[in-house]
Amino acid sequence: MIRAYAQEKAELHKFELLNQDYVSQNIRLAKLSALFMPLLQGLISVSFLMVLLAGGYQLLEHRISLGSFVMFNTYMGMLVWPMIAIGWVVNLTQRGKASWERIMELMREEPAIFAGKSKESRELQGEVRFEGVEVKYPAGLALKRVDLEIAAGETVAIVGHTGSGKSTLVSLIPRLIDPTRGRVLLDGVDLRELDQQWVRRQIGFVPQETFLFSATLADNIAWGMEGATEADISRAADLAGLSPDIASFPAGFQTMIGERGLTLSGGQKQRVAIARAILRDPRILILDDALSSVDTLTEESILTGLAGVMRGRTTILISHRVSTVQNAGRIFVIEHGEVAEQGTHDQLIASGGYYADLYQKQLLEEELEAI
Ligand SMILES: Nc1ncnc2c1ncn2[C@@H]1O[C@H](COP(=O)(O)OP(=O)(O)OP(=O)(O)O)[C@@H](O)[C@H]1O
Ligand SMILES: [Mg+2]
Repeated sequence: MIRAYAQEKAELHKFELLNQDYVSQNIRLAKLSALFMPLLQGLISVSFLMVLLAGGYQLLEHRISLGSFVMFNTYMGMLVWPMIAIGWVVNLTQRGKASWERIMELMREEPAIFAGKSKESRELQGEVRFEGVEVKYPAGLALKRVDLEIAAGETVAIVGHTGSGKSTLVSLIPRLIDPTRGRVLLDGVDLRELDQQWVRRQIGFVPQETFLFSATLADNIAWGMEGATEADISRAADLAGLSPDIASFPAGFQTMIGERGLTLSGGQKQRVAIARAILRDPRILILDDALSSVDTLTEESILTGLAGVMRGRTTILISHRVSTVQNAGRIFVIEHGEVAEQGTHDQLIASGGYYADLYQKQLLEEELEAI
């Protein structure tokens, strides 16, 4: 971003300002501690001087003995270092306390979403139901009373304007957020009562923004799946349409990607994320706009591959492209946080709403491209 917008100078200047602030604070600290030692030494010398003066005077007046005077002086000399040490320790504890408070602030942080109580061992069927679900963000309602039923094994698609609430809707399923009102049920049980780890292990979630680790390609695909074999990884990559790309990489599956290695293209990143989700062999697969950066041909082959693996499993596809969603069993159109239309491709075309519009526009685009 900095290079593309030619902001090197401005960013350097900001960095410079921060550094200057840091330097001046440190100089202040150095000045203070430079003042401290001489002050302490001076104070000690002055106290000795005072004792010498007052004691010497009393000695000359014969009010105290020479022994008492020497004894007093010796005791005072012995006390100097322990006093300095106490000051030092108090200083240390105060600094420690300041850091301790900051650390404890982090340690005391509680997750907003608590794991449900029951431990599950059975297999998830994959039926998802939304009942009067409402999600409220600080900026306003993202979902308003959504009622949806997705049968186990069904493939559904979600379309809608940007910002209509599609991502919000699917992030409720792996319980990345909780609804403000209403409930989300998996196999008829409220998500809040289910063991969160168990639920998440059975969901393959490809978020809109893919995240890859700075590790090898194989590690990225097998992330979170310790026992994955090479054959599993290569099968998942194959289904995600990644194999031709991998063949062209210098070290194949062992190619380092991310900050410390090769930079993947947008479409390659998306397909790595899809491979990661497939490898988990999930009961529910959610693709949030996960094919947006691949061309329509690659998309078709990935969808065909996915249809094979996901047979009998629940699949939820979000897209802005009719080509991605048209073969889904049911298509939901979300508008302003509500389900505005639903039905099959043909039903929605016939009813002439948002979906039919989208279809007409994309048909036109394709025709124009063909010219
Ligand atoms: N974490 C959040 N905090 C606050 N507001 C949010 C958050 N996530 C989403 N929103 C808001 O909720 C609304 C719905 O967002 P959402 O991401 O669900 O839209 P979307 O349908 O997925 O859009 P797109 O097609 O662009 O991906 C938007 O107005 C957005 O600004
Ligand atoms: Mg989204």
